Amino acid sequence: MTVILETPRLILRHQVIEDLDELWALYCDPNITKYIPDAPRSREEAQEELEWHMNGHPKHPELGLWATIHKETGKFIGRCGLLPWKIDGQDEVEVAYTIAEAYQAQGLGTEAAQAILQYGFKKLNLPRLICLIDSENIASQKVAEKIGMAFEKEGRDEMGPFWVYSRARKNDI
Ligand SMILES: CC(C)(COP(=O)(O)OP(=O)(O)OC[C@H]1O[C@@H](n2cnc3c(N)ncnc32)[C@H](O)[C@@H]1OP(=O)(O)O)[C@@H](O)C(=O)NCCC(=O)NCCS
Repeated sequence: MTVILETPRLILRHQVIEDLDELWALYCDPNITKYIPDAPRSREEAQEELEWHMNGHPKHPELGLWATIHKETGKFIGRCGLLPWKIDGQDEVEVAYTIAEAYQAQGLGTEAAQAILQYGFKKLNLPRLICLIDSENIASQKVAEKIGMAFEKEGRDEMGPFWVYSRARKNDI
């Protein structure tokens, strides 16, 4: 099982098939999926997503959605990571984060996002990172701002409109 990174309270690792029950439970919560337009809608779709990310993103193995494990309880409490997109003709990498409701509002989303941002800049040497956020998703906007991102523009795809937050790599990161 490949560990990607560790924070004081979390371990982020590649997903394994045994995570499916907890991943699907996460996607069964409408408060989790309301701002994730492309979230899996069935257990089969959740399994497809999980398998797609099991060894990192197939086209970019250094990226992907990683199982987010709460060290204190050993529980799978979310999936966070880095996702590749093409937006306005430009290759982008998104810092993605989702934390189960029972574990929200304890700073865990910010802790995961901060570590992922540093991993993307320092370890992967990415020049720029973004967050793609629904205009009404205040918690996610706060996480993006806490990790030093700023609103850049509004975008739109077949799923609807979204806000792009971004931050360029600086030498002090
Ligand atoms: C976004 C998300 C990961 C934040 O996780 P979290 O662990 O609760 O984040 P934190 O505890 O680090 O909190 C970050 C900030 O958001 C605020 N916040 C948390 N839940 C909130 C809510 N429902 N409404 C408004 N603000 C909220 C926190 O108070 C904190 O701000 P503060 O420090 O100024 O008080 C979590 O809400 C989530 O998984 N949401 C559903 C999936 C999703 O929207 N993912 C992002 C898609 S872009």
